[in-house]
Amino acid sequence: MLVLNRTMNSALINEHFFNPKNVGNIAEAQAVARAGSLTCGATLRVSLSVDESQRITDAKFKSAGCSYLVAASSFLTEQIKGKTTAEAAVLGQSPKKSVIEQAGGWPEDRDRCAALACEALISAVKQYSDSVREEWTGDEALICTCFGVSERTIENEIKAARLHTIAEVTKACNAGAGCRSCYSLIQDILDDCSLEASEARTFGLRPEARNT
Ligand code: FES
Repeated sequence: MLVLNRTMNSALINEHFFNPKNVGNIAEAQAVARAGSLTCGATLRVSLSVDESQRITDAKFKSAGCSYLVAASSFLTEQIKGKTTAEAAVLGQSPKKSVIEQAGGWPEDRDRCAALACEALISAVKQYSDSVREEWTGDEALICTCFGVSERTIENEIKAARLHTIAEVTKACNAGAGCRSCYSLIQDILDDCSLEASEARTFGLRPEARNT
């Protein structure tokens, strides 16, 4: 294990390594995910408790890796408690902003440790999003769990603004801006709308008249 040199690291890094927060497993977690590095062999497990409003009430981690992975995981799990899963996923998208810049003095060759902590967090949020979508019983099909965006909303946005890419859909209605577990579903809707528009052009029908 790489041992931290107290004098070379920020107080924040030292605090989270020498007194790591949130170590352990959550017994009845809503989401559990693992991430591993082929480069160094480190592994990390993150578990989350999430309430009905999609707010993270508890977050824990167990790691087998270096000191910086412990510090990054401790720091990250502290930050996401009290946040929604969407907010946590947005944090996880940028190891630089969520860990490296805030920690101060994070060594460049340890960026991958922060990235691994973020990867495990995003995987856990994806798993949570998938499970909520599968159990969803609302009137309109739920596509983006993170931001509560329905299939109909996405379809309407695509047709109204003639959107062609997931990035454009995300910009229009936020779908896909969090954990991205809805990406393939958004792509399916884009493909369906594109096919519908091309059939309408071929047969001279307006898209909405195709099924009438
Ligand atoms: S379900 Fe997380 S971004 Fe859409």
